[in-house]
Amino acid sequence: MTEQRFLLTARSIVKSFGPTSVLKGFDLSIAPGEVHAFLGGNGAGKSTLIKIISGQFERDGGTLEFDGQAIGASVGGHVAAGTIAVVNQELALLPHLSVAENIAMPRLRRGTAKYSERASMEIAVEALSLIDPQFARESSGRLVGDLTLHERQLVEIARALGSGAKLLLLDEPTANLTAAETIRLFAVLRRLIADTGLAVLFVSHRMREIRQIADVCTIIRDGKTAVDRVALDAITDREIIECMGQSIVVDEAAASVAESAELAEQDTGGNNARIHAGALRIERDGVAIEVPAGAIIGLAGAPVGPSSLIDALTGIAPAGSWAITRDGARVSYGHPSAGARDGVGFVSGDRSNKGVLATLPIVDNLVAAARVVNRRSVVKREEIEQSTRLLDALKIRAGSLWDLPATLSGGTQQKLLIARWLLLRPRLLVLEEPTRGVDIRTKREIYALIRKMARQGTTIVWWSTEYIELVELCDTVLAFDLDGKPTEVLRHADVNETQLAAATGMAA
Ligand SMILES: Nc1ncnc2c1ncn2[C@@H]1O[C@H](COP(=O)(O)OP(=O)(O)O)[C@@H](O)[C@H]1O
Ligand SMILES: [Mg+2]
Repeated sequence: MTEQRFLLTARSIVKSFGPTSVLKGFDLSIAPGEVHAFLGGNGAGKSTLIKIISGQFERDGGTLEFDGQAIGASVGGHVAAGTIAVVNQELALLPHLSVAENIAMPRLRRGTAKYSERASMEIAVEALSLIDPQFARESSGRLVGDLTLHERQLVEIARALGSGAKLLLLDEPTANLTAAETIRLFAVLRRLIADTGLAVLFVSHRMREIRQIADVCTIIRDGKTAVDRVALDAITDREIIECMGQSIVVDEAAASVAESAELAEQDTGGNNARIHAGALRIERDGVAIEVPAGAIIGLAGAPVGPSSLIDALTGIAPAGSWAITRDGARVSYGHPSAGARDGVGFVSGDRSNKGVLATLPIVDNLVAAARVVNRRSVVKREEIEQSTRLLDALKIRAGSLWDLPATLSGGTQQKLLIARWLLLRPRLLVLEEPTRGVDIRTKREIYALIRKMARQGTTIVWWSTEYIELVELCDTVLAFDLDGKPTEVLRHADVNETQLAAATGMAA
């Protein structure tokens, strides 16, 4: 047998962030002209590896070979040289610049030429024409801020492709696209692969589309290669999900926090206590879910579905096709503050833009929800005392209440956002991926906190992309398909990862 020639070979890649060891000797080989699915649970280290390959992160150990040449560990280099192109999970376009400027800027910056509007238009139209000549003509002069998410995704991909790269790294490019938009993107990728022999490393959680576009897969688990270059024809969905399985045991013995949430019962005074009475009923498209007080309800599926329900429950957007009632009476809020005053808490998945008040001290962050609910604006002595006790009880190690949230780790900031609702005892707490990017220890603390609040009568609606969490923690899970329609209500006894994958069309 002749040895296969690879475009990229990564061997024994090691990477830690402080005490968190993410990659523990990971191997990956990509052949020219293939679409290679890179699969793994949330937080497994996929984005980290992509940033190492594309020179955005330094690796701690291991070797990388691209097109026959060793790549050093330092940041930069090969992406700038245009041989490896990357579209990161977080889109990196500048909204206040035009499409043309966004596409051309990196390339014009590389040479010595002065920036020219005409040159940038030419570069952009050429790059976008690879994808869609009509879109290229229509959109090049528009501001990126005016584009839909799908259009922005196309601009990002065009920017990456225009460089004539041999390897394209796509980190969840379809996460925010509908099924129809995804089909269009795939048509573009197939054409480029046929025309140029491009290789694509493709991260996605959606089983159906992985099977549509990819030839082989590599699965990462516990920082190592669990499945190495296996043809997708040779592996079942069930096997893929089993291989991805993260060994997070949801363990309530995170006793410190379970105990600490007693705080809400003991020392908070009665003025903030809410009445939790009233069962919630949620319905859309003939799928209905009854939510008793204190239940933990999971939402599973592509973002478009869970987001629409969350928006309706919290008052971020009108209810649309959702029918939400409490004890038979319609529930609908014109604004999230109205929801908050009616006992609906919300922790946004967009922690840095819609959760943490970055310019205000920790104490303001902790009492933010109480201020909205109680229409207060100044921090009172009592609030300072409560906040101090909260930090203590939740084992949040802050220098002082008056430090900025940036002095805390990401996971701790997340605890802060949940703690914001703890003392108010909302009747409903809506959580968007509260454990995303959070280490396992903090995850457990968050689970314990959520369970505790549920026991106190708060109903929890929780969107998570980690099926293992939903399986372990939820009484009921509402599943959505790729177009955002609710498909099934799964009771605790029936919820498992295979069921969820089937009901949502997503592997995790
Ligand atoms: N810049 C960073 N600083 C600290 N920790 C990070 C950073 N980037 C990622 N991590 C951590 O590394 C782990 C893997 O993250 P990531 O590569 O984004 O996973 P995936 O893309 O597979 O979901 C997570 O625990 C995450 O919190
Ligand atoms: Mg990622």
